Amino acid sequence: MCGIVGYVGRQRAATIMIEGLKRLEYRGYDSAGLAVLQNGGLTVVKTVGRVAALAKLAAGKKLSGTSGISHTRWATHGGVTDANAHPHLSSDGQVALVHNGVIENYVAIKKFLLTKGYNFASETDTEVLANLIAYHLAKEPENSPEGPRFLNAVRKTLLHVEGTYGIAVLSPAHPDQLVAARKGSPLILGVGDQEYLIASDVSALVSRTQNVVYLKDGELVHITTGGFTLNTLDLADISPVIDKVTWAVDEAELGDYPHFMLKEIFEQPQALENAMRGRFSADGSSANFGGLNLTAADFRQIDRFVFTSCGTGWHACLVAEHLIERYARIPVEVDYASEFRYRNAPLDRNALFFVVSQSGETIDTLAALREAKRKGYKCMAICNVVGSTIAREADGGIYQHAGPEIGVASTKAFTSQLLISSMFALYVARMRDLSFADGVEYVAGLRRVPDLARRALEQAPHIREIALRYARFNDFLFLGRLSLFPIALEGALKLKEISYIHAEGYPAAEMKHGPIALISEQCPSVFLVPKGELFNKVVSSMQEIKARKGLIIAIAPDSVELPEGLADELITIPDCHEAALPILATIPVQLLSYYIAVARKCDVDKPRNLAKSVTVE
Ligand code: G6P
Repeated sequence: MCGIVGYVGRQRAATIMIEGLKRLEYRGYDSAGLAVLQNGGLTVVKTVGRVAALAKLAAGKKLSGTSGISHTRWATHGGVTDANAHPHLSSDGQVALVHNGVIENYVAIKKFLLTKGYNFASETDTEVLANLIAYHLAKEPENSPEGPRFLNAVRKTLLHVEGTYGIAVLSPAHPDQLVAARKGSPLILGVGDQEYLIASDVSALVSRTQNVVYLKDGELVHITTGGFTLNTLDLADISPVIDKVTWAVDEAELGDYPHFMLKEIFEQPQALENAMRGRFSADGSSANFGGLNLTAADFRQIDRFVFTSCGTGWHACLVAEHLIERYARIPVEVDYASEFRYRNAPLDRNALFFVVSQSGETIDTLAALREAKRKGYKCMAICNVVGSTIAREADGGIYQHAGPEIGVASTKAFTSQLLISSMFALYVARMRDLSFADGVEYVAGLRRVPDLARRALEQAPHIREIALRYARFNDFLFLGRLSLFPIALEGALKLKEISYIHAEGYPAAEMKHGPIALISEQCPSVFLVPKGELFNKVVSSMQEIKARKGLIIAIAPDSVELPEGLADELITIPDCHEAALPILATIPVQLLSYYIAVARKCDVDKPRNLAKSVTVE
């Protein structure tokens, strides 16, 4: 949600920042802007629209400054206008600032600043920060025993602020300096060769350095051309820990694909292999998760798992619930992170929490983690982004190793979460009642998943043809049962997110209790067909749709035989172990949504109103 890139070094800041913003654009893309320090003043360029529009505008200006800040916005307070785009300037021109997050007490601060003669040009909460820093800067003595003047002005401002922020600040009175701070919004310092970068996401830094410092909440960094210091709001010095980013630059590039979403759909076999690498036990009957820091004896004490997440990750939690309850026979509760944090649910004494988050930065999921920890529960994280806030604050966890996911609609991170969930179910099941032989069969089934995913992807041209025929419809139902019900929800979500088509996911048998009223020739149903005992039941649901002239797209394992003429379209997936079925069933619904969105000329990687990582409530 909103992206920040700042630079202090020897190169042209604008060029470097625009390159960084392009990599961050998936975080928000309604407007973009930058400010550079040059010729003793600030030059600001900002515009409604994409980073490409900013780059075009910037190309016409002489931007030679070597320090700067920049931003790509996802609007919270104030509409999408040039005036509301970041950076924001203080009305005395002494401060420029970019901000991610929400300042909750901005009305009170604004009132105060108006009495002090500061003016406001935008409708944003952010502008109060720029003016409040300017106010403190004007009062701050040159040689304060408390440290550098610019840093102090920012620090004192933040002491008065309620809400969340990741900020980067410049002042023309303090050339070649940048102050950045975070509370609840990610910020990372990149330590390069005679240059420093600040960014809200490592993907903006990796082309210039792999050495990074992850700022923690309540920390400020003061960057100059000669180095940086890390402090807290109460002036304590901190020794920085420099981490190495392992992602390669080209992993976050499109290559020959037209969209990141398609690239990431096709990267799934590799992402699945990465998720399982080194995680099966030597005897081939279970899984290993060293990062959980829990022994088998610890697991014996657990009488309930609570899984929380948002969006697509929440669907992965529902699959985890099904598999853990089915194989390990331990109750699982699944909650939306945003609901859990406020509903004060009664909890068992021996519950173990899991939060699931691709980015590791979603604010609601982070808040749920903190709430669980506050109540004294251990909380584990399933995360893709290494070093993210959730990964760092959790008591232990499982990294997905899916590589950077840039497409706003999550694809490879989701199937990787599904695989990890099924491995975790096996891990706990083997500590309980699952036999060695069943464990061996389960492991063998999961090991085949990357290859089976490759085979499922071979259906892409066939799915594209179906998509072209169905792209004209404006309502869809997605129907599935048990572990395929969450995939029905995910299929509907994907279609909504990227093609703006109304779609609902339902348990197939529940369809007759309401959604059946929607069925007509104008509302196709996508059926996720299982094997085994529920096959006939699902076929009955399909008959009910057919009897009402509804069109049916069936996604079914190779070996099942549907009654002749029941499905209007058939997409097959390879036969697989039951624990792998949700993973393989996901691939066709992703491709279907993708090709429908492309046929409708939607901007697949940057769907309207969405952001990849939602770091505001
Ligand atoms: C946003 C994205 C979704 C994503 C959700 C949770 O809403 O648009 O695709 O599933 O955030 O993100 P996380 O990074 O926590 O998995």
